[in-house]
Amino acid sequence: MVARFDLIRRAAGSMLAAALALAGFAAIGPAVHAAGEPLAQAVPCLPCHSRTNLAARPKVPNILGQDAKYLIHQISAFQRQFVAGKTRFLRLERRHPVMNREAPKLERDDIQVVAEYFAAQACVSARDIDGGPSESLPQPKLATRCFLCHGEGGRTHHAFVPSLAGQRMSYLRKQMQEFRDTKWEDFIDQGQARVHRMMTRQGLPLDDAQIDELAHYFASLPCR
Ligand code: HEC
Ligand code: HEC
Repeated sequence: MVARFDLIRRAAGSMLAAALALAGFAAIGPAVHAAGEPLAQAVPCLPCHSRTNLAARPKVPNILGQDAKYLIHQISAFQRQFVAGKTRFLRLERRHPVMNREAPKLERDDIQVVAEYFAAQACVSARDIDGGPSESLPQPKLATRCFLCHGEGGRTHHAFVPSLAGQRMSYLRKQMQEFRDTKWEDFIDQGQARVHRMMTRQGLPLDDAQIDELAHYFASLPCR
């Protein structure tokens, strides 16, 4: 009962935080950590997400230099649990066996400071960790549509929208497939799933070949 109450309280807290952030009320404070020292609250994340460990972890996305509000949103989405009896979500939801285990290690009050810690770091280009072409691939026609939200060349200028330029190819491909293939009902089961009212619509018309082409293209771009 206590656990159930805690879940509801957390869900309500996250909705409020998102509403405040959307309304532009989020207080963005400086990351409190000494220069050169990793932020204590981010330490559980570093075995996978640090600059040095990324190369050995091919399935881990590069979150360095990513939009802070986007990161806050994703960490909260990974923390949120499915509440039995509710089969529809109005906002984004995201499931992944590793991150659904890792994200709850952060206290709600620490999410922002951890997101800012990663956002403040220089980004990494996939070509430098995974190899691949040293030149950017030619731009597929379809990519112009993506630039509307993800920014020219996949470098975002919008809060809550991630940059795609230089993100890892297999990660980009998997996310697009998940947006396309996840049904809202999938959140009843454990497993992997991702929905978002904008990206689900964007993913729907794409076939595997188009997804592949877009993923290779964005992964080939320098991250800045
Ligand atoms: C054991 C490895 C591991 C650890 C530890 C870990 N992560 Fe992750 N993280 C992953 C993987 C794998 C994914 C990709 C999930 C997917 O494919 O949907 C991911 C995805 C993410 C994303 C989404 C990125 C995007 O572009 O949407 C964020 C944000 C994130 N992690 C933050 C964190 C934070 C903060 C911590 C520490 C509390 C953490 N992770 C700890 C492996 C890890
Ligand atoms: C209408 C705006 C919009 C358009 C157009 C759009 N996206 Fe997105 N995209 C988003 C938003 C918002 C998110 C973040 C979703 C979330 O919060 O889970 C996103 C997330 C993504 C992600 C996940 C990135 C990550 O780090 O996890 C990928 C990959 C992606 N989009 C690819 C594309 C591609 C390729 C196109 C063009 C075919 C495209 N998007 C068009 C708004 C858009």
